[in-house]
Amino acid sequence: MAGGQGRGAAARELRAVAAEAAGCTRCDLYRRATQTVFGEGSVPAPLLLVGEQPGDKEDLAGEPFVGPAGRVLDEALGAAGVDRGRVYVTNAVKHFKWEPRGKRRIHKTPGATEIQACAGWLAEELAHVDPAVVVAMGTTAVRAVFGRALSISSLRGRVHELAGGRQAVVTVHPAAVVRQRDAAARRAALDGMVADLRLAANVAVPR
Ligand code: URA
Repeated sequence: MAGGQGRGAAARELRAVAAEAAGCTRCDLYRRATQTVFGEGSVPAPLLLVGEQPGDKEDLAGEPFVGPAGRVLDEALGAAGVDRGRVYVTNAVKHFKWEPRGKRRIHKTPGATEIQACAGWLAEELAHVDPAVVVAMGTTAVRAVFGRALSISSLRGRVHELAGGRQAVVTVHPAAVVRQRDAAARRAALDGMVADLRLAANVAVPR
């Protein structure tokens, strides 16, 4: 736990960090986003899951992973035997990056500058949640967690040691499951994600 303080203190401190992040102007994304979407969940927690950035639904709700990708994440966590209430879920970038197309808000992938601008918030979450294992979901999360661009396929299926001694497991972004065109492909993508989450959970809380 951060500085060895108790559970309550870590949670309280992280709430103060989240309040500070609500006014974040470290990059330009705050201009178009509705609000900062900070991480949520148990503090401390054995697992900290990192996604890319809030989507349209999350931007409006102010909570991570509550839209279609969140439903896939919930399904995968359930199948892996992980209770979402006992983990911490966040994003590499805390504001929704989008551009208008007619009346629609089209998701844009955050770049290295935006990931770097948000790195301090993720570092605070890691310090306070103090997870045994960080799960990086998708390429933006991998970049934020590993500090450089790496392919998911080169990292998947193994446990990695991060600088500072924390462990990490890599999986696809839940939106990659949502995007599959047929039921068989969706099932295969979901099964892969479940296997990755099981690996992370077994390392975090050996059974
Ligand atoms: N995609 C993400 O990466 N994070 C969310 O919170 C929602 C969708």
